[in-house]
Amino acid sequence: MQNIKLSNIENDPIKAKILLVDDEELILNSLKMTLERYFTVFTTQDPTEVSSIIDENDIDLLISDEMMPKMRGCELAEKIHHEYPDITKIILSGNSNKNDIIRAVNQGHIFSFIFKPVDVNQLLQTIKQGLEYRKMKEKIKFQNLVLENKNETLIQDVLKKTSKINEMEKFYEIGKFSASIVHNLNSPLQTLITGYQLLEDEMNQKTDVHPQIKTIMKIINDSFISMEEMIKSITTTVRNASLVKKIPVSLNEVIANLIEKFNFKFQNSNNIEFITELDGNLPNILGIKVHFDQMFSNLLKNAIDSLESSKEKFITIKSFHSKNSICVYIEDTGCGIPENNIDKIFDTGFTTKEFGKGSGLGLLITKQMINSYQGTITVQSEVGKGTSFVICFPK
Ligand SMILES: Nc1ncnc2c1ncn2[C@@H]1O[C@H](COP(=O)(O)OP(=O)(O)OP(=O)(O)O)[C@@H](O)[C@H]1O
Ligand SMILES: [Mg+2]
Repeated sequence: MQNIKLSNIENDPIKAKILLVDDEELILNSLKMTLERYFTVFTTQDPTEVSSIIDENDIDLLISDEMMPKMRGCELAEKIHHEYPDITKIILSGNSNKNDIIRAVNQGHIFSFIFKPVDVNQLLQTIKQGLEYRKMKEKIKFQNLVLENKNETLIQDVLKKTSKINEMEKFYEIGKFSASIVHNLNSPLQTLITGYQLLEDEMNQKTDVHPQIKTIMKIINDSFISMEEMIKSITTTVRNASLVKKIPVSLNEVIANLIEKFNFKFQNSNNIEFITELDGNLPNILGIKVHFDQMFSNLLKNAIDSLESSKEKFITIKSFHSKNSICVYIEDTGCGIPENNIDKIFDTGFTTKEFGKGSGLGLLITKQMINSYQGTITVQSEVGKGTSFVICFPK
């Protein structure tokens, strides 16, 4: 007998498992003895036992006789193929006709046909090819799985990016629309400022002006300046962001002015108490003042709205700094934010306020402004207890 090369089968530390099915005991035993040198071999004379042997022993390859009294080999291969498509099937046959071979191979159930009397070299060679074929099929299956996973990750990525793009588009549209409105606000504002200046001139000539009127005039004047700056900053940003001049801004001053404005607006009718703990040594931040006015005004407005039905109406504002950052902490004793809303509060148009009261843009604009200063904003909230925001800017 000529010696065949089975080096990679012999060297494989895990022996492949082969199941032999033949009704003739003699053939079964002689084949077993031949193959046992290379493989772990299982045998049965009963084709109906095949499924349970495969289940128990994790068989890699099946070799079956074609002519058996209980079931033909091709029939067995077809049955096994449905249950275990990955097992390689080889049929041994003494007198199969051409049609049997063609049908079985075409249906893809059988890897190969070998005629009896069996040429051992041919059988070993076929087994080797069959096992390699099985390994290749497993490899392809695994690669398909990896590809499917990669595909799924890519789909999720595309979905995430699409929703981000939609969000940006929405914001861009709002931005375009707002920029033109803001631009048009300039002319009625100039009329108001002129009117205000005439009133101020008139008042400066009087000696008996009530001190509260003077405070009111100051607040109106500050608001006009703030509006003018806001309009200027938006219209200039639309043209060219680099044209907007940055100045050192004191966050403590921004906060104090806003509290004064809100107290003036509500005249204490809402019973809200502002508690402040401002860091006397807080460094200034280089930026556009109106941006900080807007950020903290949006956050304070939200805090005020949240207190509407609260018994205790406190808003605590703290400023502090560390080696690398300048921070503001704003806490309210308001209604709080439900857990399933907390991830949405910075989304475009997300609001829980009634129509006309909230547009759902305040926090989005606030976050974008904070981001433009490489800052961060974090939120913590408990329903019924209150909400706190921490805003930090790099020093
Ligand atoms: N301090 C807070 N307490 C409770 N809920 C809050 C607080 N801040 C924000 N929220 C929730 O987040 C939502 C979004 O806030 P955001 O400021 O973006 O929009 P808005 O206040 O509804 O409308 P606007 O555009 O007028 O600011 C609010 O509708 C509210 O549900
Ligand atoms: Mg708001």
